Amino acid sequence: MSVLVTGIGELATNDVTVDGGRPRTDDHRDPTGLLGLVDDAALVIEGGVIAWVGAAGDAPAADTAYDAGGRAVIPGYVDSHSHLVFSGDRAQEFAARMTGEPYSAGGIRTTVAATRAATDEQLMSHVARLVAEMRAQGTTSLEIKSGYGLTVHDEARSLAVARQFTEDTTFLGAHVVPDDTDPDDYVALVTGPMLTAGAPHARWIDVFCEDGAFDVDQARAILAAGAEHGLRGRLHANQLTYGGGVKLAAELGLVAVDHCTYLADDDVSALVESGTIATLLPGVEFSTRQPYPDARALLDAGVRVALASDCNPGSCFTSSMALCIALAVREMGMRPAEALYAATAMGAQALDRADVGVIAPGRRADLVVLDAPSYLHLAYRPGVPLVTGVWQGGRPVAPLS
Ligand code: NIG
Ligand code: FE
Repeated sequence: MSVLVTGIGELATNDVTVDGGRPRTDDHRDPTGLLGLVDDAALVIEGGVIAWVGAAGDAPAADTAYDAGGRAVIPGYVDSHSHLVFSGDRAQEFAARMTGEPYSAGGIRTTVAATRAATDEQLMSHVARLVAEMRAQGTTSLEIKSGYGLTVHDEARSLAVARQFTEDTTFLGAHVVPDDTDPDDYVALVTGPMLTAGAPHARWIDVFCEDGAFDVDQARAILAAGAEHGLRGRLHANQLTYGGGVKLAAELGLVAVDHCTYLADDDVSALVESGTIATLLPGVEFSTRQPYPDARALLDAGVRVALASDCNPGSCFTSSMALCIALAVREMGMRPAEALYAATAMGAQALDRADVGVIAPGRRADLVVLDAPSYLHLAYRPGVPLVTGVWQGGRPVAPLS
């Protein structure tokens, strides 16, 4: 059954070859032509994928039709960084930060205690609720990390739960060293039995490389052990302090390194050289009152930049990619087009996913209808719920009105 979506006032495809490769660059909507915008557009969905994209006047016939009524359509967000498998609440820590307390990675241990105490069913229904919350806001692909279990059993079950919701699951046993545990013994556990138990449920391995968590040598050893189990590496790096994490990611040629809040010049040049994507997580800076990373400087230097939510109970409990876009535009010097591209196409690249993030023939039909004439409203109308319809794999998953 094919569906013709008509009446798209503005379509952001992320495909510069759309319309014969003549991107619009004539206004503030997309000065560099990054988004492959098509005005008065239509598209056809068939068998879960995009079958055709173009100007409404050229649209082929289909079995059924949906009229977007002049509204904007964008690719579903690809949220490449989240920690959804947890239990408990740390709102009080947030309130303390808003009165001047600093963010402390030690808060992770509070969530670890609550997560260990939760049943499998409780963890599963909590993740389901958060994934539904994300989907209703336009996120159609996501990555989910473990990291609040920190025992062999609790890390493996966290990944097994995450696996029910996405193929992009990440083993983050190296989130923090648990209380009363020797760091060397813990690294041996993470690279040994915990990895063996977690790897069958994971695609990626991650390390929180930071003062108070794991140092560069430990991160290197943990990523190497993961690679032996077929897991690809990513890193939390340079979130709270300057350090060697970003350079390690570049040296290893990782596809993405996340946070990148404190960067020295040689970190930036290492990212340019390696092509490693810097995944910026502005919700974290918002929620911890840290300085925002300088996205403008990164983009101007030629670094590839993605945006993600980092949804987690400690440093940033938002699931809204639209908020991340608004913050990136307002606080980090990104142009609106760069921010949308970073939250969709670059998120897909940060997960090495060729099937999502772009609206083009053959790609998964993940589409978001905005109750707005242009995607610009994502940053122009911050905090306003603009999503009025979502297709995921060609299936309507949020009410289409
Ligand atoms: O990405 N940085 C490490 N992990 C999470 C925060 C974890 C927490 O505070 O619970 C992050 O910010
Ligand atoms: Fe994180």
